[in-house]
Amino acid sequence: MFWSKAFIPTLKEAPQDAEAASHKLLLRAGMIRMLTSGVYIYLPLGLMVLNRIETIIREEMDASGAQELLLSCIQPLELWKKTGRDQQLAETMIRFQDRRGRNLCLGPTHEEVITELVKNHVSSYRQLPVVLYQIQTKFRDEIRPRFGIIRACEFVMKDAYSFDRDQKGLEKNYEVMFTAYKKIFTRCGIKFLITEADSGIMGGSVSHEFMVPAQSGEDIVLFCKKCDFVKTLTEDKEQKCPRCNTPLEKKQTIEVGHIFQLGTKYSKALGACFLDEKGEQQTIIMGCYGIGVSRLISAIIEQNHDEDGIIWPEDISPFDVLILPVQSSNEEVVGLAKKYYSELEKKGFRVLLDDREGTAGVKFKDADLIGIPLRVTIGEKNLQKGEVEIGLRREKKIITVDKNSVVSKIAGLIKKGS
Ligand SMILES: Nc1ncnc2c1ncn2[C@@H]1O[C@H](COP(=O)(O)OP(=O)(O)OP(=O)(O)O)[C@@H](O)[C@H]1O
Ligand SMILES: [Mg+2]
Ligand SMILES: [Zn+2]
Repeated sequence: MFWSKAFIPTLKEAPQDAEAASHKLLLRAGMIRMLTSGVYIYLPLGLMVLNRIETIIREEMDASGAQELLLSCIQPLELWKKTGRDQQLAETMIRFQDRRGRNLCLGPTHEEVITELVKNHVSSYRQLPVVLYQIQTKFRDEIRPRFGIIRACEFVMKDAYSFDRDQKGLEKNYEVMFTAYKKIFTRCGIKFLITEADSGIMGGSVSHEFMVPAQSGEDIVLFCKKCDFVKTLTEDKEQKCPRCNTPLEKKQTIEVGHIFQLGTKYSKALGACFLDEKGEQQTIIMGCYGIGVSRLISAIIEQNHDEDGIIWPEDISPFDVLILPVQSSNEEVVGLAKKYYSELEKKGFRVLLDDREGTAGVKFKDADLIGIPLRVTIGEKNLQKGEVEIGLRREKKIITVDKNSVVSKIAGLIKKGS
């Protein structure tokens, strides 16, 4: 992509009301814009990142045996009355009536809809287990939308649901999801903690939360330095590790994923049953598994930035390489930039060429801000020696290479990283 033709509206300063580092950088790097409180637009660069995260999630979900579907955003309130969650989530739901007077809501989550679907199409033990997932926009009228897309009223979630004959089946699927989640967050380039949630919040079942340590995290977890034990903070008193008795330490975190052994909570309320081998009717055992897909963008930035801007992990970055011709009026400089561009694109790399007019200073600042891992800087001075610079965004390192070995050097650097 040529920057002069791209829609990347970078900003020198972040708006005053942006508190979190990730929020400021997302705005400044021209990745998102707020339309109204809690409601965000994803600009081309932001959408590229969102798409890359979704690709990782799809790959790992598909590999785990889950099947993708797409449920509807619009849901009849009637369905929610069956589980009583129309009351429980009354404040959170965005409700409306259509012209026929039907009471509807924009889905804040999808347990009811998916359980109803499975209930209508599964009747025998032979059809179980089944694991379904979707990546979709959720709507929640949050009391306090905050930190940009970390807590928004409209956001993208991956939600998966497992349906099993018995507890043993659920535990197996749960384990598979647990492993897939670890792979997903690792591939996203973030460090995370997994809390062993106190059982009892939702009927004594097992659940785990995936938490990303970050300054702007709203959730506080307690962790043990000695043995890796982690739990969410429920009461504010000094607590010791239940395993090794070391005093627990506090950390601010962002919740990016939550997996839950639901049991029969929804299947019972909605009558999702199956006939077992003996022809006896049993209730389906469920699990649910969520990832905050759009929130992940912010969590990644919280852990991957410096004072100059974002530092994208290679597998998340909107581009692999940024080409920066320093003098936009020097034919040799510009010609070489275009040559590298087409050669790298031909090799399958995602390349952004900063062909804008304007000072080198502005281009360097924007380059650091949008955080592409590799930068090729082509300048008159180096060219006189037949050299070009390759800059590593994360290491803040510059490698000087012969102008004829730029493409092979880059190909090597990218291969090494991935
Ligand atoms: N308002 C929101 N904006 C962006 N992402 C969200 C929001 N609410 C939840 N998520 C993401 O969706 C995932 C699954 O949703 P879930 O219903 O488990 O969240 P939650 O428990 O309500 O999260 P939180 O405690 O942060 O409100 C969460 O782990 C989180 O990453
Ligand atoms: Mg919530
Ligand atoms: Zn311990």
